[in-house]
Amino acid sequence: MTSTFPAGFLLGSATAAYQIEGAVAEGGRGASIWDTFTRTPGTITGGDTGDVACDHYHRWESDVEMMVELGLEAYRFSIAWPRVQPAGTGAFNPEGIAFYRRLVERLVERGITPMVTLYHWDLPQALEDSGGWLSRDTIDAFVVYATRMVEELGDLVTHWATFNEPWVSSFVGYATGSHAPGRVDDEEGLTAAHHLLLSHARAYRAIKETRPDLQVGIVNNSHTPRPWDPSNPADRAASAHIDALANGMFHQPFLDGTYPEVLRPNTAHLTDWSFVHDGDLEEMRGAVDWFGLNYYASHVVRHNPAKGAATSDVATLADGHKAGSSSPWPGDEEIEFMRPPGELTAMGWNIDPGALTAQLLRLQREAGLPIYVTENGSAWDDQVDGDGDGRIRDRDRTRYLRAHLQAVLDAIDEGADVRGYMAWSLMDNFEWAQGYAKRFGIVHVDYDTQVRTWKDTAYWYREAIRARGIVP
Ligand code: NOJ
Repeated sequence: MTSTFPAGFLLGSATAAYQIEGAVAEGGRGASIWDTFTRTPGTITGGDTGDVACDHYHRWESDVEMMVELGLEAYRFSIAWPRVQPAGTGAFNPEGIAFYRRLVERLVERGITPMVTLYHWDLPQALEDSGGWLSRDTIDAFVVYATRMVEELGDLVTHWATFNEPWVSSFVGYATGSHAPGRVDDEEGLTAAHHLLLSHARAYRAIKETRPDLQVGIVNNSHTPRPWDPSNPADRAASAHIDALANGMFHQPFLDGTYPEVLRPNTAHLTDWSFVHDGDLEEMRGAVDWFGLNYYASHVVRHNPAKGAATSDVATLADGHKAGSSSPWPGDEEIEFMRPPGELTAMGWNIDPGALTAQLLRLQREAGLPIYVTENGSAWDDQVDGDGDGRIRDRDRTRYLRAHLQAVLDAIDEGADVRGYMAWSLMDNFEWAQGYAKRFGIVHVDYDTQVRTWKDTAYWYREAIRARGIVP
């Protein structure tokens, strides 16, 4: 069993602009759909917003120094599109571009490899006003934005991700409404998903035309559905449907230019799929250099014709979405997510490192491309200073991290070409619909004072990075 990472493997951590930056009305930034959504009563736990978040916009220099002290080899962050191009089309904002330029320059100076995500959910509001991801015009706008950022930063950044979790942006944003822009329509969810995937393909080709040397990928959230009763064909079909919508739809077009076969029949009552134009899928084929995998938990699903009646035993899904209410899975009216057996994190998610190994191996088998674990982590109810010595003994988080790093090593051992691991997250931050109530950071943030305090996991991770592998 391998216990150390191969040479060149990047150990780092990840964040996203809206979750940490704050300064939403500074430096010429335009409004995003998350500014609008968080101002809509009832959308976010505690009425929280990203207005201040971790104040990273003002504290980026000390945050980079903290990364250096942690020994991070890589840092994955996202660019807020409305900060660099306030209306999403038209004029770019030099002040916004300069912010990311300075950040990237400093990271490189300090020996940390930057990984840039172009879109981590904060669409300029002006684009939403003209149709958002339901409009093909947004695809053109994204390509202009993406190519401009590559022109600005491509001399220092090699690793580019177009989209973070397009499954969430589309289905949770447009089908269930629990994320911005808060729309509730299954057909819209599928339309948005298709447009996001096509945007990736077009941006990929535009970037590669001028800069074939850059590595352009897409980050997907993996779901590992397991049938509740493996001997029941209906449960197995439910699991296959979820797999097609969560994994297949977001990977397969880039591999062979098709959507999974079960997708159209299972959603025929929702849409005629006329949003797919001739040639779209062909454009997607081959348009990826690497896949990013965000992995947190696995899911247990069953077929239940009476779904809706039972809500007590359903699980909480990724990104704060509650199963059993409206569904983030178009066409799954009779599919139910069950509470998985065993221990759950503060998000109500299970702990299943074996599923991470399995997903990495599957992606390797199906795509044969380099893979980065672009996010992995867990939220817990941290006890700050529980023992009166100022320490945050987040043993559960360390245990989770250790087990999942081992799971990555296991996948490498079995042949997966995994190139890096980014712990989610560098610090506690705005957890979307759950606001500041859920803490994923390896570093604690006091939101009143903005003081950052290393949790025990941060010390552990520094040792693991030094050792380039699992430490006690
Ligand atoms: C994935 C998302 O990319 C990230 O923004 C979020 O905070 C984590 N999941 C945890 O829910």
